[in-house]
Amino acid sequence: MRFFVDTAEIDAIKELHDLGMVDGVTTNPSLIMKSGRDIKEVTKEICDLVDGPVSAETVALDAEGMINEGRELAKIADNIAIKVPLTWAGLKACKTLSDEGRMVNVTLCFSANQALLAAKAGATFISPFIGRLDDINIDGLDLIADIRTIYDNYGFETNILAASIRTANHMSDCAKIGADVATAPPAVIKAMANHVLTDKGLDAFLKDWEKTGQKIL
Ligand code: E4P
Repeated sequence: MRFFVDTAEIDAIKELHDLGMVDGVTTNPSLIMKSGRDIKEVTKEICDLVDGPVSAETVALDAEGMINEGRELAKIADNIAIKVPLTWAGLKACKTLSDEGRMVNVTLCFSANQALLAAKAGATFISPFIGRLDDINIDGLDLIADIRTIYDNYGFETNILAASIRTANHMSDCAKIGADVATAPPAVIKAMANHVLTDKGLDAFLKDWEKTGQKIL
């Protein structure tokens, strides 16, 4: 499973990138707002740092507006994936932009039917939002599994990009289901390293080591 980082914070992306943990980046208007940066400037910096796809989101509501914004965002770098929302207008924009050979990430997906339409429209990525479904007591992971089944049934090449990930367990669950990519905030990716038994075991080893009076260096 490829890891994308869901942030527009350069330092956080750099830290994970240096460890080889970053296969791509996703941003959205809220993350750009949080960064306090200009969308084109910060997206360019991210694209210079990361070789994989960097999603930049359109904000128009009509297909023509999304297409024009998408073409403008694509000028930033070759690895831009244009993000459009899963509306009827977004599907039209997806078809046009993907026919032009551009990467398109169809976002705000909350149902298997929406994912089926995005694949038909030629999406490179479909972004089902796990956490926001969990928030309304619908199991977001079930949606990932349903989309996996449907795409495999018909050989759709659209990549399942599990999004709105809130916990480290979401990451391993997505990997078990077979999501192609998961995009998560830096804190969630770092939390994947934590285990209470690791901390406990380390503590016990260090206490015993102290009793030996030895030094390695
Ligand atoms: C994905 O591309 C989105 O930017 C993101 O995963 C949304 O996550 P949230 O529901 O935590 O805002």
